[in-house]
Amino acid sequence: MIRIENISKSFAGVRALTDVSFMVKEGEICGLIGPNGAGKTTLINVINGIYTPDKGAIYFKDKKINNLPVYDIAQMGISRTFQIARVLKRMTVFENMLAPTIFLKENKAVLIKRIMELLEFVGLSHKKDQYAFELSGGQQKLLEFARALVTAPEVILMDEPFAGVHPDIRAHLIENIKELNKKGKTFILVSHDMRSISELCSKVVVLNYGTKLTEGDTETVLNDERVINAYLGE
Ligand SMILES: Nc1ncnc2c1ncn2[C@@H]1O[C@H](COP(=O)(O)OP(=O)(O)OP(=O)(O)O)[C@@H](O)[C@H]1O
Ligand SMILES: [Mg+2]
Repeated sequence: MIRIENISKSFAGVRALTDVSFMVKEGEICGLIGPNGAGKTTLINVINGIYTPDKGAIYFKDKKINNLPVYDIAQMGISRTFQIARVLKRMTVFENMLAPTIFLKENKAVLIKRIMELLEFVGLSHKKDQYAFELSGGQQKLLEFARALVTAPEVILMDEPFAGVHPDIRAHLIENIKELNKKGKTFILVSHDMRSISELCSKVVVLNYGTKLTEGDTETVLNDERVINAYLGE
């Protein structure tokens, strides 16, 4: 479904990604892990079009997407959430959910119904008229997740969804991700939380200093000595 081929990206001489390649199959939850500064967020930003890679290509369902603008990639069916939730703080929860609908051609009644269902799904329907700044950090992450689903994406890229989130909200998010995955949605999940990675991911890709250290099934990768050493900073 997503094919990442030899992606490199530098920022003013800092090599954030060097020759990274891997594939994510339809219906997979692929973990993307690695120590701080390994290049995980940069790769998510390259996939959803915020950054153009210096080298390499990204294919979504065999179409090359690495030269397309963010909104085209979103419309094709790839959505994402941010490491620090980017909600519109001075708008209500409901208004935040409306924001991505400017891309959509469906009629308003259908969209409003979908928005209410999604707020129900993440457990925020009772907060719909509150300002986003009134929500806790974890609730803002839930809102951002629900908002990422408004466009009915096939692939959801999630950057640290569990960081700084209350355990109850984490549990809720994990159930949400599992349920969507059962319905066929594909995920790339960046996380430092190895418990969540083992609970959710069938496959894991490890980045270290911008290169792919290894990839494989979750249990094998998490027990790989090279991966453990990378986290210990050796
Ligand atoms: N916009 C930017 N300008 C300059 N350097 C950047 C930029 N974005 C990322 N970098 C650098 O690229 C490298 C990879 O950063 P990135 O944020 O992708 O790491 P990460 O794996 O997401 O780390 P973390 O686990 O801390 O979130 C780092 O050295 C970082 O300083
Ligand atoms: Mg990051």
